[in-house]
Amino acid sequence: MDSPLPNRPVVGILHPGAMGAALGSALKPRAGTVIWAAAGRSHATSKRAEIADLVAVPDVAELARRAHVIVSICPPHAALEVAEQVAAALAGRADPPLYVDANAVAPATVQEIGRLLGEHRVVDGAVIGRPAYERGRTVLWLSGREAPAVADLFDGSPFTAKVLGGDLGPASALKACYALQTKALPAVWGALSDAADAYGVRDALGEQLSRDGVDLAEQVAALQARAAAKAWRWAGEMDEAAAALAAVGVPDGFSRAAAEVYRRMAGGSRGHGA
Ligand SMILES: NC(=O)c1ccc[n+]([C@@H]2O[C@H](COP(=O)([O-])OP(=O)(O)OC[C@H]3O[C@@H](n4cnc5c(N)ncnc54)[C@H](OP(=O)(O)O)[C@@H]3O)[C@@H](O)[C@H]2O)c1
Repeated sequence: MDSPLPNRPVVGILHPGAMGAALGSALKPRAGTVIWAAAGRSHATSKRAEIADLVAVPDVAELARRAHVIVSICPPHAALEVAEQVAAALAGRADPPLYVDANAVAPATVQEIGRLLGEHRVVDGAVIGRPAYERGRTVLWLSGREAPAVADLFDGSPFTAKVLGGDLGPASALKACYALQTKALPAVWGALSDAADAYGVRDALGEQLSRDGVDLAEQVAALQARAAAKAWRWAGEMDEAAAALAAVGVPDGFSRAAAEVYRRMAGGSRGHGA
C-alpha cells in the first residue's frame, strides 16, 4: 500500500516532555523537520526541545497547519484536549495530517479522537519502556489503518515499532492491560501501608510480612521512588486503564484504587518525571 506520507514528512510533537523529546529525536533522521509548539509550555519542555534540536513554532495551530504527521505525547488526562486543539486548527484543511495518539489512554478515548480527526487519519499508539535513545528497550505499539506508515518512520530508530492491526484501540488496550501489572499492582503497597499507619499496626504488619520474606519498608520505598515525580500523571493513566477494563466487563477496581493512591501521593504536586 502507498504511504500517505511524503518521503521526508514534517513531524509535529505535542509535546516534547521526556518521552516526546525522545520520539522527536528518533524521528529526525526520517523527517524533513521535527517541530514543536512553544505556546504555554514550560522552560523544562523548551530546554528538552532545544537539546533534541527540534524546531519551535509559535503554537499548536501553526504546528497543525505545517505537519504531515502529529504525535500526541502528553499526560494521559490531556490527550483529548490536545486532539481538540488540533481539530480546531485543522478545520477546513484539505489534506489533514496523520495524528498518532501515543498516550496511555483508554481505547474509547482514542476512538473518540478518531471521530474528531477522522478515523483513518488517526493512529493509536502506546509506548512501553523508557524514553529511548538506544535500541532494544522500548516498544511503540501502533494500530489503525495507517499504522504501517507510522511504523516505517521509526525504522532503524531507538524505538521498536510494532503494528497491532488496523483498528483504533488495540494499542491502547495493550498498554492498559500491561499497566495493571506495572502501575496498579505496586500501588497496593501504598494502600496497605496507609491503612496500617491509620490503625497503628505498621510495625506489627512489617514483622508479620517479614515472616513471609517480604520487606514492607523496602516495598513502600520502591513505590515512592518510582512514583515520586510521576504520581500526578499516573493517576490519569490509571483512570484511563480503569475505563479500558470496565468497557469489556472486567473489574476495574484495581486501576481505580491505584489512581486514587497516586492522586494522594501527588497531593496536588506536578513534577516532571522521566
Ligand atoms: N516517561 C516514561 O518513562 C514513559 C514511558 C511510557 C509512556 N510514557 C507516556 O508518555 C507521555 C508523556 O510522558 P513524559 O514522561 O514525556 O511526561 P513529561 O516529561 O511530564 O512531559 C509531558 C509533556 O506534556 C506537556 N503537558 C503537561 N501538561 C499538559 C497539558 N495539560 N496539556 C498538554 N500538554 C501538557 C508538558 O509540558 P510542560 O512542560 O509545559 O508542562 C510536557 O511537554 C504519557 O502519556 C506517558 O504515559 C512515558
